[in-house]
Amino acid sequence: MKKALITGFSSGIGLAYAKHLIKNDWHLDLVSQDIERSELALEALNSSNCSAYSCDLSSPEDLDSLMLKISTPDLIIANAGIGINGSVGKNSSKDIKDATYLMFGGVINLIEYFLPKMKEKDAGRVVIISSIGALIPMPKSSIYAAVKSGIYAYGRSLNEELENTNISVTVSLPGYVRTNIHQRSGLEHLVRKIPNWMWVSADKVVTETEKASIKGKSHIIPGFLYRITSIFFNLKITKIIWKTLNARK
Ligand SMILES: NC(=O)c1ccc[n+]([C@@H]2O[C@H](COP(=O)([O-])OP(=O)(O)OC[C@H]3O[C@@H](n4cnc5c(N)ncnc54)[C@H](OP(=O)(O)O)[C@@H]3O)[C@@H](O)[C@H]2O)c1
Repeated sequence: MKKALITGFSSGIGLAYAKHLIKNDWHLDLVSQDIERSELALEALNSSNCSAYSCDLSSPEDLDSLMLKISTPDLIIANAGIGINGSVGKNSSKDIKDATYLMFGGVINLIEYFLPKMKEKDAGRVVIISSIGALIPMPKSSIYAAVKSGIYAYGRSLNEELENTNISVTVSLPGYVRTNIHQRSGLEHLVRKIPNWMWVSADKVVTETEKASIKGKSHIIPGFLYRITSIFFNLKITKIIWKTLNARK
């Protein structure tokens, strides 16, 4: 039985990924921080092929001890994340440090720890959930955009580096997905404001990302609309429309 490690499995994209992999007979090592949410997610998954770990992935010490407990996976889904918003100077240095480690430094440490072991077997896949925010300016979410761009650059460089191996690294760049993230980061107004056509389902993110990963692609933008729109991201008119729709308070 193949084994996958999913970070941030308790809701949203991570939970949808876990459901997808269980249907395809994977064993899962599942990581989240909040115990209550993890238990509810495990109930929803209703599978004996899951091992759950509680870990604060914004803490380097917690991540180090987690990695020692887990054997090398065949697939890593580096998904855990939060929204970090606010105009320049509004986030505390601790919030910036934690978010940066959770979605950038810690993701790199996790991959740097397991990928050499995958290389010994010459087999394995890595999926990194970044964001469309890696590709277009995100005023008042500049730290989020920076972290997501950084991890995108890391992932696609690695994928190229591993070109002649049986290992792939695929970065997924979703647009808006209805999950807990917006309420948790004080962006609930966007849930009402963003038009329906701009939302992609978590299931679609998972199926398109998984397909791209199996093909060994360096990156995927889930949803046809986002793929088309991304071609025009450098145009001033696209940036104005995007900025208006996404305006943070
Ligand atoms: N939703 C979107 O519109 C969207 C768009 C683009 C990219 N993304 C990215 O997609 C990924 C998943 O987010 P989501 O939208 O599915 O949000 P979500 O429903 O809020 O899920 C986030 C997951 O990350 C986990 N997590 C957060 N902080 C953690 C920490 N310090 N330690 C361990 N686990 C932690 C949460 O676990 P707990 O329950 O333990 O907190 C939860 O399982 C994120 O990287 C996000 O940036 C989302």
